[in-house]
Amino acid sequence: MKRTYMITGVILALLGAGMSVNFAAESPDPMAPRAEIRYVSPAPPYGLPQTIEDLENDPVTPEQLRLGKNLFFDTILSDDRTIACASCHRPDHGFASPDAKSPGVHGQVTLRNAPTLFNRALAKSFMWDGRIATLEEQVLNPIIDEREMGLPLEEAVSRLKQSTTYSQAFQLAYKNGVTQENLARALAGFTRRIWLGNSPVDHFVDGNVGHLSVEARTGMWIFESKGQCWRCHTPPSFADEDFHNTGVGVRNGVAEPGREAITKNPEDRGKFKTPTLRGLTLTPPYMHDGSLTTLEEVVEFYRKGGEPNPNLDRHIQPLDLSDDDARNLVEFLKALSITVDPPENQ
Ligand code: HEC
Ligand code: HEC
Repeated sequence: MKRTYMITGVILALLGAGMSVNFAAESPDPMAPRAEIRYVSPAPPYGLPQTIEDLENDPVTPEQLRLGKNLFFDTILSDDRTIACASCHRPDHGFASPDAKSPGVHGQVTLRNAPTLFNRALAKSFMWDGRIATLEEQVLNPIIDEREMGLPLEEAVSRLKQSTTYSQAFQLAYKNGVTQENLARALAGFTRRIWLGNSPVDHFVDGNVGHLSVEARTGMWIFESKGQCWRCHTPPSFADEDFHNTGVGVRNGVAEPGREAITKNPEDRGKFKTPTLRGLTLTPPYMHDGSLTTLEEVVEFYRKGGEPNPNLDRHIQPLDLSDDDARNLVEFLKALSITVDPPENQ
């Protein structure tokens, strides 16, 4: 099966022109300027579904996408003007945070690890406990969150209205200019177009085997057989968008509430949303609490059967993996972070 591939040149042409100059003046901390361009495109890359409902329901113009990007990098949306979305979702760190808990405004830190924003167009719910249903809702959340950006939405809207640059940019992007709804649309439209695909694994499953090392191929086999990983980490994003208790965060046999806090169902105790496995080499530390720092540690965690607690998922059991198996599994996970560029035979 052949999939259409968005050629990098087209992406650069679409996003590159006139994008960052004004913005750089407003943001003192550009955070790996332009690294993000590699990952942002109007259409999904090779290896991901080419038709995604959420994407089709949210067509964006180049002006809207550019506005969303500028907002994502701008500290104007935080109370003390020190924090941008990109401070925690760092483009040079796979749109995740290098800190287990990220610093927000006024010296506060987040309660959980900031996850990657890759392929969120495929998400069915947001946050580690899935408490948010739509991306439009989710992108406004960090602005008001006291641990993150701590800015009331009315204040955010009024700041944007006062800025000549933003007034014009909103006017160009949306007929009715700066509104709270347009702020959400712009941020969601941009976030929805941060992708990672086109990995050696995607080529391998399409029959183009040469890109995947022998070690990673063996690792893939373990992933799909005795590792049991595939039960929850299902393609294309290698996440089933469901909630499971793997024992992360368990102290003295007691799990954190996790999903139970949302559903009030005791069976959901200690369950968290399965994260994507694309981009892992870019995004340490891992897990909702950022408690594991290397992929070797993650594999070791699963090898010993997670962390015992009354609600541990039945698929989390001690694994019979040799040291070679464990190494190969890590090689497979690493392959999901590589992009084959340009793709061959396309
Ligand atoms: C201070 C750090 C911080 C800032 C600033 C921040 N985030 Fe986040 N973000 C997080 C953390 C932590 C989570 C996970 C929280 C949880 O699950 O309880 C998260 C979760 C998300 C998610 C959900 C991802 C998923 O797969 O469930 C999205 C989307 C998101 N943030 C987008 C944004 C946008 C857009 C902005 C800017 C308006 C932003 N974030 C600003 C730390 C931050
Ligand atoms: C029962 C479902 C389930 C199985 C089986 C499973 N996982 Fe997970 N995985 C999860 C959940 C849920 C999380 C998040 C746990 C948390 O933070 O509380 C996770 C987290 C991870 C992470 C961290 C990703 C990040 O960005 O933080 C990696 C890596 C990972 N799993 C790899 C694997 C591998 C490799 C296997 C097989 C050995 C495996 N998983 C088996 C559900 C599962």
